[in-house]
Amino acid sequence: MGHQKRPLPWRGPGDYLNGPVFSMPSIREFCSAKSSGKKLVMVTAYDAWSARLLSDSPVDALLVGDSAMMVMHGDGDTLGATPDLMAMHTRAVAKGNRGKLVVADMPFLSVRKGASHALDCAAALLRAGAHAVKVEGVRGHADVIHHLVESGIPVMGHLGLTPQSVNLFGGFTVQARGIEAAAKLKEDAHALWQAGAFAVVLECIPHVVATEVTKELPIPTIGIGAGSGCDGQVLVLHDLLGLNPDFKPRFVRRYADGAATVIDAVSRFAADVKSGEFPNTKEQFDT
Ligand code: KIV
Repeated sequence: MGHQKRPLPWRGPGDYLNGPVFSMPSIREFCSAKSSGKKLVMVTAYDAWSARLLSDSPVDALLVGDSAMMVMHGDGDTLGATPDLMAMHTRAVAKGNRGKLVVADMPFLSVRKGASHALDCAAALLRAGAHAVKVEGVRGHADVIHHLVESGIPVMGHLGLTPQSVNLFGGFTVQARGIEAAAKLKEDAHALWQAGAFAVVLECIPHVVATEVTKELPIPTIGIGAGSGCDGQVLVLHDLLGLNPDFKPRFVRRYADGAATVIDAVSRFAADVKSGEFPNTKEQFDT
């Protein structure tokens, strides 16, 4: 048997010594889940350490959501996100990521100032390490989405409760209720697909509508508050970890009591410091 060269560990972009040993997360593979019936899982990530941890989990994609404004920056909505801020969070996530598909949110109004502005913003997100961008809505900017896709930028759509329109909705309320609103949402879903979107997030809509859209569209639907009929589900990491005890909407399932875990760990640290238990002799340096 001939000598086989062991591949060196991949040290990131710029390390070409190993030859073609690294594989990119593939949009095609992501989309193929729909035909194979495999449910897709997406979770938000805003920083390097959570991206690193989530890389060791079976999630399919990391979403650098503009929910960062609410979760990380304490705002009441997502409108404060700017292209620079989204690029900063995306860069951090990309540094921690090990092989997951990274989707970054196009922030408030970034697709409403024409194709050139949208292209600059999407380019900044891809240069920061995203593989795709997510765009809220489609009415009035289908051509911009098409332009992004034609420029080589994969676009994930987002319909239903699109948080950037919270002021128009008068709050974070369930959308697409009633025959007319449901028909409008279905039309929008088809328009997104026609514009070239590779997937669509359906947020806070009746499960029947989400199931119908999922059956009609050839691209995957990723639900949040949209029921089990979607091709996949997305949750905010902090919500599923139970890190915010004040936030428990109906569509969130908590998989950990993160708030209690954090408070307990920090309380034990504080107690050890106050009692003189920490640091011990093994946790300090000799001369
Ligand atoms: O910004 C975000 O986190 C999102 C998800 C809730 C879908 O858009």
